[in-house]
Parts: sequence; structure tokens; C-alpha cells
Amino acid sequence: MSLSNGRAYLAIPGPSVMPDVVLRAMHRASPNIYEGELHDLTASLIPDLQAVAMTTAKVAIYIGNGHAAWEAALANTMSRGDAVLVLATGPFCIGWGAMAAGMGVHVETLDFGYNTPVDAGRVTEYRAADKAGRIKAVLAVQVDTSTSVKNDIAALRAAVDAAGHPALLFADCIASLGCDRFEMDAWGVDVMVAGCQKGLMTPAGLGFVWFNAKADAARGDCVTSYWDWRPRAEPEQFYQYFNGTAPTHHLYGLRAALDLIKAEGLDHVFARHAKLAQTVWAAFDCWSTTGPLQMNVADAAHRSHAVTSAVIGSPLGDRLRNWCEHTCGLTLGIGLGRAPADGYFRIGHMGHVNAQMIMGALGTIDAGLKALDIPHGRGALEAASNVVASA
Ligand SMILES: Cc1ncc(COP(=O)(O)O)c(C=O)c1O
Repeated sequence: MSLSNGRAYLAIPGPSVMPDVVLRAMHRASPNIYEGELHDLTASLIPDLQAVAMTTAKVAIYIGNGHAAWEAALANTMSRGDAVLVLATGPFCIGWGAMAAGMGVHVETLDFGYNTPVDAGRVTEYRAADKAGRIKAVLAVQVDTSTSVKNDIAALRAAVDAAGHPALLFADCIASLGCDRFEMDAWGVDVMVAGCQKGLMTPAGLGFVWFNAKADAARGDCVTSYWDWRPRAEPEQFYQYFNGTAPTHHLYGLRAALDLIKAEGLDHVFARHAKLAQTVWAAFDCWSTTGPLQMNVADAAHRSHAVTSAVIGSPLGDRLRNWCEHTCGLTLGIGLGRAPADGYFRIGHMGHVNAQMIMGALGTIDAGLKALDIPHGRGALEAASNVVASA
């Protein structure tokens, strides 16, 4: 019997749940793109995008997804033959590196596997060995959405500096911006990329690149007119923000989403994500006392607050996801970038989520484990509710 009629919960790690105010803001006739409200609204986004990244760096907006932001970051800084160091804690940073390689950049990779964060000591050693300063930029992901490993970005800056190396530090915050604390200026990040469809709660379609003066000065010859961040960040004409027609409705949606973040307060947004993540982990700690289910990252200090990746063994990941979706209306994330993919699943707890949604998701997974006869420890919902109660 299906119990799924009712409001569905898309608990995948992006695109995330869209707030009604965002949808309502987008539900409008096409605005005048030549003058007036849309111009003012677009200009108003910039300081709020800087605030959410805790930076005074410039920001360029692209009509695109996270991959577009990746390419923009590389195109503006790299020349063919330059070298970058990829710090891999899952498939996403490797993907960013592959994109760089496709642009003619030499890519070196330190791979830390799927379960642990970057070891900053190894980065220092590696950089210290690069006496000639060949590496122009270090590419890191704050949260790898496949593994849910979270990296300490400030520690990476310190590791590069400890080697006395001038490299730029690039951070992919596509899965973490507006969820996990990120302080671009204080942590010494030169370029940061994000999309609008996760912590920023807006339908997929906008990519962002924040860049400081050092990154801008590093300009290479890969830049082309569409990707050039300069006119986008300092437009003299409105159309330069987007190098063409504005993504009109996304801008209204993003405005509403940033207003939600402002109204809640960034610190509270981070605290809410942290508490909800702890709620999820408390349930997993109980489930995993018996049977195959385990969180992917053992050490809570290195876990994302936006997504939890779990291993359950093939084909139970797909069976559990299908049961949750078809019986209860809860869509969980697939085992992306893992093999076999059906041995994994992920829960997105990013953006517009609250405690009753998380408790509902956990209750659904608990029921699914029972319905499918998957061995698991008991008491998960009790443990999760204790975390919520402690708030
Ligand atoms: C950490 C990370 N980087 C990059 C991407 C690629 O973003 P997009 O799918 O929007 O192109 C994603 C998407 O999930 C991501 O989570």
C-alpha cells in the first residue's frame, strides 16, 4: 500500500527544497529588462552574496550550474600549460581537475579517498617540494557531495602558506554555502564557486564565482569573452552582469532566498544545519549498531552539515530509496560516484529544512529498514528526537 500522497520531500543533496516564498517570487510576468526594478534587484544581490560567503571579494553571476562556475574559475585564471593541485576527497574535486585538464592545464592530484578529509600535512610536504612554484592553484572542495566529507579550508590555506608557496586557493562550496560555515576572507580563499540550487534554495540555473584581487591579477589566456568575470563583477551596462539576457526569474527567486537567510541570520542558519545534521547522525549511530548500514564518514568533525552519505551494501541502497519514495513520498539521494552505486544512499539536509522534515525523513527510513527486513539497531528515532529536544 502506498502512503505517498501528500507533500513530497526531495531529501537529495541538491537541488534542495524550494521555499514557497522563492516560488511565489518567481511566479510573475516577465519584467522589464531595460530599466527599473530588475536592475535594482540585481545590484542588491551582490552585497548579500558577499555576506553569505563572508567576503568583500567580487562576485560574478553566470547563467549555469556548478560546472559553469568551475569552468569560469579556471578560465579566468589559467593559461594552457599552467599546473594545479587537486585535493580529492571524493569525485567532485577530481571532476573539477578533469575539467582543468580538458582546458590544457597540467593536473596533479593528491587523493585522500572517500572517507577522510585532506591531510594538511601532506599538502605542505607536496607544496614544499614544488620549489619552482609550478602549481598556480590548489583546488579543494569544502564538502564533497558524494562522500559527505568536509574539509577544513582554513587549514588548507595554512598548509600552503607553511610551504612558503604563493599558490592561489580555490574552494568549491557548491554543496556547503549557506549550510556549513565558510569565511572566504578570514580563511584566505582566493576563488570560491557555488550554485544557487543547494544552500541558496533557488531552482538550478545560476552559478557564482567570488574572486579576490590576487586571483584577478593571476589572469591567464584561457579566458574568453563569455566567461570573463570582470565585466560581470563591475558592469557598466546592466547586460554585462550576464553577458546577454538576464536570468530574470531566477533573480527574483534568489532575492527571496537571500532575504530568508538574512531574516534568519547566517549564524542561526549554520546552527540549524549543525543541529539537524546531529539529529541525522544520532539516528545512524543507532541503526548502525547492527546490520550493514554505516555512515560514510566515521569522524563527526569531518562530516558535512548539509548531506549525509551512507553505505548499506548492494542492492539495498536502491531498494531502500525506492521503498521510501514509492511508499512514503520521501526521495533520497543516489549513491553518486560510488561503486556499486546501489550500495549507497544519501540524505540531503540542506537549505529550507526544519526539524519536522528531518524527523519525518528519519522515521521513513526507519520504517523502510523494517519493511525490507534490513537488520538494524533500534532506538534511532528516540535518539534523534533527543537531539531535537536539546535544541
Ligand atoms: C561539491 C559539488 N561540486 C560540483 C557540483 C556540480 O554542480 P552542478 O551539478 O550544479 O553542475 C556539485 C553538484 O552536486 C557538487 O555537489
